[in-house]
Parts: sequence; C-alpha cells; structure tokens
Amino acid sequence: MTRVAVIGVGAMGRNHVRVYSEMSDVELVGVADADGKAAEAMSRRFGGQAYSDYRRLLDEQPIDAVTIAVPTGDHLAVAEDVIARGLPVLIEKPIAATVPEGQAIIAAAERAGVVLMIGHIERFNPAVIALKDHLAQGELGRVFQIDAHRQGPFPARVKDVGVVVDLAVHDLDVMRYVSGSEIVRVYAETGQRVHSTREDLVTGLVRLRDGSIGTLTINWLTPTKIRELYVTGERGMFRVDYLTQDLYFFENATVSGSEWQTLQVLRGVSEGRMIRHVVAKKEPLRAEQEAFLAAVRGEAPVTVTGLDGLKALALAQAVVTSGLEHRPIVLED
Ligand SMILES: NC(=O)c1ccc[n+]([C@@H]2O[C@H](COP(=O)([O-])OP(=O)(O)OC[C@H]3O[C@@H](n4cnc5c(N)ncnc54)[C@H](O)[C@@H]3O)[C@@H](O)[C@H]2O)c1
Repeated sequence: MTRVAVIGVGAMGRNHVRVYSEMSDVELVGVADADGKAAEAMSRRFGGQAYSDYRRLLDEQPIDAVTIAVPTGDHLAVAEDVIARGLPVLIEKPIAATVPEGQAIIAAAERAGVVLMIGHIERFNPAVIALKDHLAQGELGRVFQIDAHRQGPFPARVKDVGVVVDLAVHDLDVMRYVSGSEIVRVYAETGQRVHSTREDLVTGLVRLRDGSIGTLTINWLTPTKIRELYVTGERGMFRVDYLTQDLYFFENATVSGSEWQTLQVLRGVSEGRMIRHVVAKKEPLRAEQEAFLAAVRGEAPVTVTGLDGLKALALAQAVVTSGLEHRPIVLED
C-alpha cells in the first residue's frame, strides 16, 4: 500500500483524490484544503482525514507521496513544506508561476533527494502517446509543422496566471515531447478581453531546433472546447483529438509506399487515405498517477521531470513576454 495525500481539492485536486481512491494499491490517508469544508466533503466521499491546514496533515499522517493541486502561485510555498519533510511530490502543471520559483522547487527536491514530478497530463493522453510512437517509427518522415489548438470558455477560477501559463504550457510541453526537439524561438500576439489582469488570448509561432515550425491557437474566449494537435510531415498529417483520445493519419498519396525512410526530396502532396488508429482509451490522470507512484516506489524513472516542467514554463513566459513586447524571443539552453 502506498499512502497518499492531496493538498488542494478544487477543480483539479478533487480528480486526484477520486483517481487515487480508485487504485487498489493506494491508501488515501488525507486531504487538505484552505477551504476546510471542501476538504471535509472530499474526505466524506473518498476517505482519508480532512484538514484545513496542510502542514498538520503532513505532520500527523503517515504519508508516502503527495499531490499538490493548489493554485499555481502557491505551488512553491506548499512544495517547500512537503519536500522539507522528505516526501515525494507530484505538482500540478505548471511547475510554478515564475521560472525562479520553479528553479527553487527543483533545487529543494534535489537537495532533499525526493521524487519530483510535474503533472503535464497531456503526455499521458493515449492518443498523444500513440502519436509519439508513430513519429518515433518514422511514419511521418521529416516533421514540418506542429499546430496546437486549445480553445474554450473562460474558467472564472483561474486568477493568478493568464491563458499562456495556464494552457499554452500544455502545448509547449507536448511539442517538445512528441518531436524530441527543443523550441528555440517564439513569437506571439496576445490579447486580454475578459480576464481582469492577464492575457486570455494568444496566437503564437514557434521554431524548433530540428527545423520544424509550429503554431499556438489558444484562448479562454471560444464558446466550445477544442483540444487538437496537427503534425504535418513528408508522408502526411497526424491529427490528435485530446478530448476523444483519437489519432488520425491523413496520408500524402504522392509518397505513399511501404518504406518509411526519410525522403531525399519531397516531390509533392496529394490526398490519400485517412486512417483512424486504434487507441486504447484510458483516463490520463490515472496513467499520470501510476507513473508517479512507480517512480515513488523506485520501479521506474520520473517521466515528467522538474526540468521538463521548468522548460515548459520558461517557454510560456517567453510567449507572454513576446506578446507584451511584440518581438520574437530566442530561448537559451
Ligand atoms: N492538469 C490539468 O489539466 C489541470 C487542470 C486544471 C488545473 N490544473 C492545475 O491545478 C492547480 C489548481 O488549479 P484548480 O483549477 O484546481 O484551482 P481551484 O481554485 O479550483 O482549486 C485550488 C484549491 O486549492 C485551495 N488552496 C488554495 N491555497 C491553498 C493552500 N495554501 N493550502 C491548501 N489549499 C489551498 C483552494 O481553496 C482551492 O480549493 C493549478 O496549478 C492548475 O494549473 C491542472
């Protein structure tokens, strides 16, 4: 039995509680939320002791691993208290609100020698995993372009960060993850239409070290939820629908054939077959928690490291800066 605790049981934290409670080899020993009533409601429904002060939870319960799902601006303060007690921690994305705060979390975890994982949940979407596998097999040949669409209505709860740090951070991480290449330059135009203090609209351009380019179409202003990724390359285009966990391949008929090796010259593009790959569906948060607990038990390395979280956050901050200053930003290694 691995004994877990969840700190922060708002929109995301309550999912952590539910999914842990569904695991047969996990015991939910406690939940904490500054809103004591929210913690009690979770405890009544899923078990574990309820606390309004998470420090008391950490001090009073026997705990093997902790999820932190408090607002992004509070990640550092809570993470420091968890890490100071030598406990492995899964921190919701983004790692923190600022790069120095993210660095402080990583440094604290390294000093204490504890497992630190960041909850970049899209990496655990089965369609994204399948896409990465197909790309790794060379099925697309050279990748030319990655286009991310993440649009939807405004979530009144997010006050401390704008849409770039809250949402674009997912896509920046996924671009790094599926391509295996780093983003070296970003340029963005941003807008603020509903949010009181931050951007809620971004159209961004990225360039990756492998020569491919990408776009970000992300907002909190579209009255329907869109979560899609398009990856275009020599042999066609993949399309991921994160919401349905579907992966489609649109073949470039001009280069169809049985051999997957990279072409010397792309001779053209024409419409070919459309293939819907069979993807076994799974709740991404379940896969994320299983990966975290495997790392906690020493059975597997950490899949999304603090450094991954920091890189995604640094990219998101560069996108924000670009939007404010209307200039491209070159990323340092
Ligand atoms: N992975 C995802 O797809 C995803 C989705 C939503 C949110 N998130 C992340 O999860 C985190 C929380 O977001 P949310 O939407 O659940 O926010 P939320 O406001 O719905 O919930 C946050 C909860 O934390 C509690 N809280 C605040 N400060 C606290 C403290 N110091 N100690 C204990 N409890 C405290 C609040 O009372 C609230 O219940 C954010 O970092 C966000 O980026 C991730």
